[in-house]
Amino acid sequence: MNIKNVVVIGSGTMGSGIAAHLCNANIPVTLLDLKTEISEKARERIHKSRPPLLIDKSKINNIKVGNISDNFDVVKNADWIVEAVVERIDVKHQIYEKIFKSRKAGAIVSSNTSSIPIKVLSQNLTDTEKKDFCITHFFNPVRYMGLLEIVKNENNDLNKINQLKEFCETELGKGAIVCNDTPGFLGNRVGVYAMQIAMTEAFKMKLSVEEADAIFGRPMGIPKTGVFGLYDLIGIDLMADVLKSFIKELPETDEFHEVAKEIPLVKKLIETGYTGRKGKGGFYRMNKFGTTKVMEAINLETGDYSPSKKIDIKSDKVDLNRLINRKDKYGEYAWSVISKIIKYASSLVPGITNQFNDIDEAMRLGFNWAKGPFEMLEEIGVKNFFNKVDNFSGNNFLEELNKNKNEDFYGERQKYTNIETLGKVKKTVISLDGNDSAKIYRFQDYNIVEFTTKANALDYDSMDALKKATDKPLIIINESMQFSAGVNLTYTMQFADKNDFKSIEKFIKYFQETCKHLKYSKYPVISAPSGLTLGGGFEVMVQSNFVASHTNIVVGLVETIVGLIPAGGGCKEMLGRWLETEQAKNDPNFAPLKVFDIIGYGKTATSPVEAEPLKYLRPEDKKIMNRNSLLEVSKKIFNENKNFKAPEELTFKLPGESVRGEMNKIIEKLYNEKVILDHGVQVAKELANVLSGGDTTVDKTLTEDDLFKLELDAFMRLIETKKTQDRIKHTLATGKPLVN
Ligand code: NAI
Repeated sequence: MNIKNVVVIGSGTMGSGIAAHLCNANIPVTLLDLKTEISEKARERIHKSRPPLLIDKSKINNIKVGNISDNFDVVKNADWIVEAVVERIDVKHQIYEKIFKSRKAGAIVSSNTSSIPIKVLSQNLTDTEKKDFCITHFFNPVRYMGLLEIVKNENNDLNKINQLKEFCETELGKGAIVCNDTPGFLGNRVGVYAMQIAMTEAFKMKLSVEEADAIFGRPMGIPKTGVFGLYDLIGIDLMADVLKSFIKELPETDEFHEVAKEIPLVKKLIETGYTGRKGKGGFYRMNKFGTTKVMEAINLETGDYSPSKKIDIKSDKVDLNRLINRKDKYGEYAWSVISKIIKYASSLVPGITNQFNDIDEAMRLGFNWAKGPFEMLEEIGVKNFFNKVDNFSGNNFLEELNKNKNEDFYGERQKYTNIETLGKVKKTVISLDGNDSAKIYRFQDYNIVEFTTKANALDYDSMDALKKATDKPLIIINESMQFSAGVNLTYTMQFADKNDFKSIEKFIKYFQETCKHLKYSKYPVISAPSGLTLGGGFEVMVQSNFVASHTNIVVGLVETIVGLIPAGGGCKEMLGRWLETEQAKNDPNFAPLKVFDIIGYGKTATSPVEAEPLKYLRPEDKKIMNRNSLLEVSKKIFNENKNFKAPEELTFKLPGESVRGEMNKIIEKLYNEKVILDHGVQVAKELANVLSGGDTTVDKTLTEDDLFKLELDAFMRLIETKKTQDRIKHTLATGKPLVN
């Protein structure tokens, strides 16, 4: 089966996301709705979406639009027709009748339903039609969520299902998991249960919403929106509908009923328009007092709001055993929630799938959990788990595991794909090394470094691991959401608060030394980034010899926003790249001014297509839709470069004072227009000094070390200022920039 042409019917949130993603994969797609204006509006929404649904916005017109009355003929030519209309069975049935009258023989028809079983969707279809009908359940936002559940039943042509899976994996880059026709499939069945358990236990144990979110969040390897934050994000009313559908579909004996009972406070919130972020607020709300905005959280007992409190649980690591063994309410809550999730998920095997590993992967790809329930069980340890857990009778999976107490019960990961993923390869490691901030996996022919800190922020230990791992070809890659959000600012501020600037200098020097080492060591170094690759993260990537980038990369040098300049080689490398251009050969000011513009504004790119014109990525860097393939592509790069030789060191001819004059004019203009304030001027001047080459003239040659020195000196002068420290503290506390 060759999918060359797709029609998506229904251009709402999901239909437009699916169409945009097909466009990302260069598959011709037509988006139909009741009226052409609706699909046209959808196209506008796609164009403006944040984060952007399109990898390359200039391709927006590749998505054709139309309506189901006048343009239904397009269905005749489609190899795959995706239905993403409202979740109403009558509407869906009408659409299928039309589709099956028009589709070409053998074309696949799928629904994006989140809750209606195939047997109900397909009840009016003939046996031949049923063979080609399945559910393709994408997650929102489609470009960014890795999971695609392909739901089939006994009527399907399995060959076709596998071909569709293959297409969605290779062309669309999705983690496509084939599963059975059971309510909520894999991801939502366990994910929604987990949310409900986290919520109901918080009510029971009298935790505040902030406390619950502080535990059911990063400490458990779950996104920091936690449970109540996630409820607000999804929509409290929508969640109520989801629960109703589960209650309707699941047998009364299912544990789900226990946690899906209506909660009076939740009912009241919906009735009063507190439906979450899209409404007046929800468990959290933003309240205005004059001109100041205050984030407030609801009291679960009284329903009153008060300013939201930051909860410090005094642990920044994901360490489940430490968490569940804490002798406080947080430990008690964590254990109660985790153990119940493990019990529920394992009770569903083999009913919803006989591969328990698929459930973990669905949680990882569809909910961005670092670990699924079975991996949590593996981390806690079988013996530890059974020492602590209460009744689990009737749960075959746990009863069996309790009998054999096999600590190695897990086996292979990511079984749903044939790709040689990082998750699979990690299990075949020869030896493991590393420290608190990064792991080194050593294999026969190469090493892998995986950063392990929050947002993979970099510190001295991260550099240490990189340096130690260059005794073989090295791949820098990880499984978490971000490649690296940059240098760990909390770590840096701990020194600054004690006026210990010597330690900061030592760290930056080590950062520079390590990056130089990566670039010039004997063996090739490959960075395989996905997600945020900012600041110091970008500097590691740019000083690697090769790059295999996921298309969902967010890349840039953003240091100026926190009152700093890139000092790990970012200025140097960007100058190097821009100095190679034709324009730079004719105009010595061209490269410094260009880089001044890019770094000065802290520009970021949200895809390789945006990154190349800025030269954050190069044309020869590999760009990959399927994140799972990053490792295979990296290994292929090794094979293609068996005779690797480290590159020659860069040299720089920079104009010094003469280009600084130009930069100063820009700075003055921005200051007069109040785009930047006093400290902005200081930061920009430091950047200008580095990028102009400092005290030099264009006939002199500067080395990489000269540029490192300029970067370091500028960085140190800035970090010592109160205003840069204010910017950093503000950003750490609020996630937002401070303009001072
Ligand atoms: P939506 O309400 O945003 O969009 C539905 C679209 O269908 C609207 O543009 C509407 O004009 C159009 N429509 C209605 N009747 C139609 C007809 N007869 N012919 C053509 N178009 C018609 O809905 P959303 O959120 O995009 O959901 C679509 C489907 O995806 C539903 O089945 C939903 O359960 C499912 N889903 C939704 C997710 C989400 O996060 N929103 C996630 C996964 C699945």
